[in-house]
Amino acid sequence: MSNLESKVLIVTGAASGIGRAAARHFAKSGARVVLADLADGGEAIAEEIRADGGKSLFVKTNVAEEADVENLVASAIETFGQLDGAFNNAGIEQAIKPLHELDEAQWDKVINIDLKGVFLCMKHEIAAMLASDRGGAIVNTSSTTAMAAIPFASEYIAAKAGVLGMSRAAAVDYAQKGIRVNAVMPGMTQTPMTGRMPEDPELIKIFTAIQAAVPMQRFGQADEIAQAAGWLLSDDASFVTGAALPVDGGTMAV
Ligand SMILES: NC(=O)c1ccc[n+]([C@@H]2O[C@H](COP(=O)([O-])OP(=O)(O)OC[C@H]3O[C@@H](n4cnc5c(N)ncnc54)[C@H](O)[C@@H]3O)[C@@H](O)[C@H]2O)c1
Repeated sequence: MSNLESKVLIVTGAASGIGRAAARHFAKSGARVVLADLADGGEAIAEEIRADGGKSLFVKTNVAEEADVENLVASAIETFGQLDGAFNNAGIEQAIKPLHELDEAQWDKVINIDLKGVFLCMKHEIAAMLASDRGGAIVNTSSTTAMAAIPFASEYIAAKAGVLGMSRAAAVDYAQKGIRVNAVMPGMTQTPMTGRMPEDPELIKIFTAIQAAVPMQRFGQADEIAQAAGWLLSDDASFVTGAALPVDGGTMAV
């Protein structure tokens, strides 16, 4: 039996990058996967999983809208009868500006999706887990930038540090209810998000320096983050809660 066999798992941001890799990996490991994304592309990933013999459902969701998140959790339970875990991973990138040039709208946009979105998902997932009395596991996507800043990313780093704090707070609040809450902290990972970084010479210099500082001397792959999240969601991690796991080629070790 594989380690996620028969679990019902939500993955947000499942249409692209890390979320897409996670949805596929969890399904291959035996989970029934509920894919959530603002982008319609999530339906194609859900179909691919079904074509490979897996069980999946796509629910178009804006994680920053509470009604959408409520609908996501209700749909998971209506379709598969239970909710065992979630990978709250949807997020957007920073504007790449120094703090004094950030406007309020950009701050609000990133905080709404990257931080409030994780809060709303946890709120409704945990309520469903408590109601079923089956326990559960949650993994939230933070970032190594929550612990070690990179230039021009204040709003993003504030959100990712918030995700880390909220994950630890929830781990403590629900430890005696059988609900584990952990965070993964990816280092720079090759996904469409990193592909969208502008081709500015100053930025290229910064990213070259970031890569040079990675002990493994490379960026991560989406599958490598997905594997770590899958382990944290599995019963193999039964005594792990409140952890912030760097998946970063050693960056946080130096
Ligand atoms: N790629 C990296 O280097 C890196 C490093 C550290 C952390 N992260 C984090 O990993 C997560 C996944 O990033 P990725 O690199 O795979 O990016 P990505 O852009 O490839 O995928 C993000 C997905 O989230 C979805 N999304 C965005 N806003 C949404 C919303 N409001 N509601 C629902 N879905 C929404 C997008 O449609 C997209 O499918 C993000 O939280 C990101 O901040 C990424």
